[in-house]
Amino acid sequence: MTMVDPAVPRPVTVHIDPAFVVAPVRRRTFGSFVEHMGRCVYTGLYEPDHPTADERGLRRDVLDLVREQGVSVVRYPGGNFVSGYRWEDGVGPRDQRPTRLDPAWHSIETNAFGLDEFVSWARSAGVEPMLAVNLGTRGPREAMDLLEYANHPGGTQLSDLRRAHGRQAPYDIRMWCLGNEMDGPWQLGHQTADEYGRRAAETARGMRMIDPDLELVVCGSSGPAMPTFAAWEATVLEHTYDQVDYVSAHLYFEEQDGDLTSFLASSVEMDRFIGDIVATCDHVRAKTRSGKRMQISFDEWNVWYMRRFLAEGVPTEWVRAPSLSEDDYTVADAVVVGSSLITLLRNSDRVTAACQAQLVNTIAAIRAEPLGPAWRQTIFYPFAYTARHARGTVLRVECGSGPVVETARYGEVPLLDVVATHDDDADQLVIFAVNRGQRESLVLDIDLRAFPGYRVVEQCVLTDPDVRAANTSAQPDRVRPQTLPGPAVDQGRLSVMLPSVSWTMVRLATSG
Ligand code: AHR
Repeated sequence: MTMVDPAVPRPVTVHIDPAFVVAPVRRRTFGSFVEHMGRCVYTGLYEPDHPTADERGLRRDVLDLVREQGVSVVRYPGGNFVSGYRWEDGVGPRDQRPTRLDPAWHSIETNAFGLDEFVSWARSAGVEPMLAVNLGTRGPREAMDLLEYANHPGGTQLSDLRRAHGRQAPYDIRMWCLGNEMDGPWQLGHQTADEYGRRAAETARGMRMIDPDLELVVCGSSGPAMPTFAAWEATVLEHTYDQVDYVSAHLYFEEQDGDLTSFLASSVEMDRFIGDIVATCDHVRAKTRSGKRMQISFDEWNVWYMRRFLAEGVPTEWVRAPSLSEDDYTVADAVVVGSSLITLLRNSDRVTAACQAQLVNTIAAIRAEPLGPAWRQTIFYPFAYTARHARGTVLRVECGSGPVVETARYGEVPLLDVVATHDDDADQLVIFAVNRGQRESLVLDIDLRAFPGYRVVEQCVLTDPDVRAANTSAQPDRVRPQTLPGPAVDQGRLSVMLPSVSWTMVRLATSG
């Protein structure tokens, strides 16, 4: 057995070539999710009494952070919430909107914020709205009504209702989710795969009769651990293959029982999950003789300390906007988020949309105190840098044999996780890399001979001697990426040091 000296950095040879194309970088990879859950909407996006609130009651400090994060598309209004939601409650004059019980999160829903406010917020944030319809307690009729209200120009009862609410132009929402996690026993109106497959197919057919060009997402399993996983996808897709464009995937990570080694390798699970979904989709494609390749909408993913949430439970009293799952994210969590984004990019040939869950306060990269400040959690940074700089095409990175770590959950896993993007028009190459190791640094020896004239213009690293360090309202900037002097490219080779438990971005260009 070879003893490893953690003081000696471990070398890994890496080859990058513009010919190793995976797929275009999809802007929708950098999506997020706003659910009526906890304080995501109320005192997150919307807080009329906040000092930064605009005339619509939207928090400007939060809007600024959302723009800085580079979020491209936002899924709304749930989540579990949507399966008991009546969209009509959230439109029209506020003083006439009903206050109701939200059974999903055991909360009082005032409906002060609904579809019209969400679309208005999305326009200000510069994000594409993506809507989920209720297929738990409702069906095709209500989904078609919502589509008519949102997207039809005018001259019908529901489109004229939108206009009467002061929204003349149709919302032109392109991406629609056909329910949420309909396999989950916790979901209002959850169904068997056959029941849901039929309902989703009929809803999709009705919606397409109104607008054939919509992009529709059918629910996959709620996660790879579901006992029905894969059989659910196969059955649901056999009912819906011709009617939908995407199947959804959801996955949350957390450190379990102090096993940081496995936790840092969480994106391995994401990668395997994507592979299994692709295999299932392609099986149905072959069976149905379809010419269409199903895409994956990975529309819920993040680090979520769900065990803590389940142990605490939802409030026993019915209250408005309770604090739920306001996880304080650490450096280790940011590294897991960084490598999740690397995984999503590497699978861009099939994963063409993804939403980090959620956006503000609840399981979120942005935190905002009621009447107080808003700040960036650690996980904000890998997201913001990747969203800003991943452009052009995704390149597969070929690695020589590098060090591995034995994990209890995933077996042997490489310490290095890496992907690159290449923007041919801007002559820009960006390398995103994670070192999952807790002891040793890695040194990437990068072969860049296929990129003559490129030099490093920026190198950023997120790491900390304390992997549990987090940002809080008292110390909102405790953890931030550091900018390092970029190493020189020497005869087509670049050497980059990756500290233990770190996320790194290296940006190269021919100018700038
Ligand atoms: O994002 C929190 C919850 O996680 C969502 O409401 C649900 O879809 C998932 O189980």
